[in-house]
Amino acid sequence: MKKLTFLLLALVATVAAQAKDFIISTNNSSLMLTAMEGEALKVRYYGDKITMQDFDGTPKAWMDAYPVFGTSYNYPSCLQLQHSDGNQTLALEYKNMTEQQTADGKIYRIEMQDKIYPVSVIVCYQTHDAQDIIETWTEITNNEKKEIILNHYDSGFMPIRRGDVWTSHLHGTWADETRVTTEKVEMGGMYIANTDGARNAHTTHPELMISLDGKPQENSGRCIGAVLCWNGNYKLRMETTDQDYHLFFAGIDDFASQYHLDKGKTFTTPKLAFTYSDKGLGGVSRNIHKWARKGMIAHGDRKRDILLNSWEGVYFNINEEGMAGMMKDIASLGGELFVMDDGWFGDKYQRNDDCTTLGDWVVDKKKLPHGIEGLLEQSKKAGVKFGIWIEPEFTNTKSELFEKHPDWVLTAGGRPLQYGRGGTQVLLDMTNPKVQDFAFKVVDDLFGNFPDLYYIKWDANTPMENYGSPYLPKDRQSNLYVDYVLGLEKVFKRVREKYPDKVIQACGSGGGRTNYGAMPYFDEFWVSDNTDALQRVFIQWGTSYFYPAISMGQHVSTSPNHNTGRNIPIKFRFDVASSGRLGMEMQPKEMNKEEFEFAKKAIQEYKGIRETVQFGDQYRLVSPYDNPDLASLMYVSEGKDKAVFFAYKLRSFKIQRFPLVRMAGLDENAMYKIREINVVNEKRRSYLDGKTVSGRVLMNTGIELKFDDYDEFASRVFELIKQ
Ligand code: DGJ
Repeated sequence: MKKLTFLLLALVATVAAQAKDFIISTNNSSLMLTAMEGEALKVRYYGDKITMQDFDGTPKAWMDAYPVFGTSYNYPSCLQLQHSDGNQTLALEYKNMTEQQTADGKIYRIEMQDKIYPVSVIVCYQTHDAQDIIETWTEITNNEKKEIILNHYDSGFMPIRRGDVWTSHLHGTWADETRVTTEKVEMGGMYIANTDGARNAHTTHPELMISLDGKPQENSGRCIGAVLCWNGNYKLRMETTDQDYHLFFAGIDDFASQYHLDKGKTFTTPKLAFTYSDKGLGGVSRNIHKWARKGMIAHGDRKRDILLNSWEGVYFNINEEGMAGMMKDIASLGGELFVMDDGWFGDKYQRNDDCTTLGDWVVDKKKLPHGIEGLLEQSKKAGVKFGIWIEPEFTNTKSELFEKHPDWVLTAGGRPLQYGRGGTQVLLDMTNPKVQDFAFKVVDDLFGNFPDLYYIKWDANTPMENYGSPYLPKDRQSNLYVDYVLGLEKVFKRVREKYPDKVIQACGSGGGRTNYGAMPYFDEFWVSDNTDALQRVFIQWGTSYFYPAISMGQHVSTSPNHNTGRNIPIKFRFDVASSGRLGMEMQPKEMNKEEFEFAKKAIQEYKGIRETVQFGDQYRLVSPYDNPDLASLMYVSEGKDKAVFFAYKLRSFKIQRFPLVRMAGLDENAMYKIREINVVNEKRRSYLDGKTVSGRVLMNTGIELKFDDYDEFASRVFELIKQ
C-alpha cells in the first residue's frame, strides 16, 4: 500500500514537472496559461494581477487557450481547417515558447503542432504594461505539400465564468452610429457580425465590453474589454452551452471567406486586444484610450488642430474664391486648418454630385484655375494649414479611370454590376497589386507634389456589393474579403512609410471606418455624417467606449441641422463638439454677428482646454442612455491638476429635476477652482463659477447644475484647476 502511494506521487510529480504554468501580466492584470508536453495550450485565469505565489500548488488547467475543431473537442472552436488530403480535423500539442522584451511589455509566442499533419499554430500574446492591454493573435503555417483551406480562423478566445455577466456593444447605421446596447448573457449564443466588406463600423463595431458583476456600471465592477483590430468583416461570438463558462471568440467572419493557404505560407490573424479593469466600463475605456494614444492611432501624442471642413458649408460647390473665403473665415475665428472636401477634381467628367469622377484625381481647372498650388498659397496668406478629400479605392462607372480600366473593379463574374453611392460607385479590386499601386499613387501624388499639403481626409462610401475579383484566380475567389483588406492595408502601410508625419483622417460615410485595424494609419476619424448636436451626444458617448477624444472628429455645423432639421443654439453645438477634436463644418458667412463672436470665443477657450480633452482620462458621469434629461462627462489631466467638465440638458420640461452630478477622477484631497466657459448669457452663469471646491465634495456629494426652464438645449462647461 505504502509503495503504491509513493509510485502515484512520483507520477504526479513527473507530470507536474513537465507542465509549465506561466503568468502573462501587465501592471494591473494577469493571464495565466499552462503549456504541457503532448497537450494543447490551456488558459486558466484572466483578471486582476496575480503571481505564482497566489496559488497553492498547481490547480488543474481547464480549457484550451485556442480551441481547435475535430478531436475530443465538441464545443465551439477558434480554428477549423481542411488539410490537403481533405481531413477536416486538428489535434494540437505544445512544442515550445519564446519570450521577447519590447519597449512597453513582452511578446510571448507559444508554438503548437498538429499531432499528425505538418501544420503549426503559434498563439501569440503581447503585453502593453502601462495600459493593461494583452493582445493576442495566431499564426497558422501550412507545411503540407499542397494548399490547406482555413474554414474558420478566429484571432482568439476567452472563457468568461458564468454569473451575472453582461455585454455592452455598439450598433447603429449611417448617420446614427455607435448606439450603446447592453444585454445580459444568457444560455445559447449571441454574435456581432459585419459583412459590409469595405467599411465595418456603421451597423456594428468590432469591440465588446463584458461586465462580470451584473449590470454594467461606469466606474465600478469588474469588466473585460475586447477589441478586434481588423478593417474588414468580423464576428464576435459569446456561446454558452452546458459548461461553467461563457465562451467568447472573435475574429474575421468566416462567411464566404474560406481562406486558401498555399504550402509554405503563414496566415496571421488580426490582433484581438483584451483589457481588464475593476473600475467598470470607464476603467476599460481609459485603458483602451491610453493604448490607442500610445500607437493604435497615428500621432497619439500630438495635439490636434481646430479645423473647418467645407462639406456641409458648400457640398460640391467648390471654387477658388469660396475656398479662399472659408480659409480666411476659419483663420479669423482662430482655427488652424482648412479642409477642402469632395468636388475639387475631374477633367473629362466634373464632380458636381456623387454620380461621377471618382478615380480621376486631377484638379478641376474650371473650379480651381490655379490648382492646389493656388489653394496652398491662399492658405498661407490666411495663416491656416490646408487639407484635401480623397476616396482612392473607389471609382464611378462614369469616370476616365473606369473607361480605361474596367477590369480594375470588383465584379461578380459575368453578372451586371451593382452600384453603391450615386448609383454608379464601385470598389476597385484591392487584391490587385496594380490597383494598390494606383491607390498609393493618388496619395503619393498629392503629398509628393505638394509638400505643404498637411492633411488628407480619406473617405469610403460604398459597401462591397459585387463579390468577385477579376485578379484572384478562380479557385481563390473565397479569399476576396480577406485579401481585399490586406491589399488596402498594404497601401496604408506604404503611405505611412513615406509620409509618417502627415495628418490623415479615416472616414467611411461618417463612422464606417472606425476600427483599430485601420486606425494605426490614421490620426482621427469622422465620427458620423450626422452633425446634429443632440444626436451627437449619443453617438459620441458610444464611440468613446472604445475610442479616445483625440481621435474623434466633432464638428459644429449650421442650424437648422441638415440631417435632422433641428434648431440648436450655437453654444450647445460648440459644447458638444468641444468634448473631442473640435472642428467646424458650415459656411461661416452664414453665422450672424453674435454667433461669429461666440464661435471665436469658444475656439479660444477650446485652445485652453484642448490638452486636457485630448490627452486626459475620460470619465463618463451621466449617461444619456439611462437619463432622458441629462448627459455629462469629464476629462482629467494625468497629474489630476486640470479637468474639464461637460453637461448637456437633453430635453426641456417645466420643473425638471436633475440629479446631483458626481465628478470622478479628481484628487479628493485637493481644492479645485471652477471657471465656467462658453457662457452666452451672464444672467445664467453657474453659481459654481469662481468657486473653489474640494475634489472630495465634487466627487462624493456632486454638483447642482441648475438650468433655466426656458432653455431648450442648455449646457455647461467647467474648467477646473487644482489650487
Ligand atoms: C461622406 C463623408 O462622410 C462626408 O463627410 C463627405 O466627405 C462626403 N462623403 C463627401 O462626398
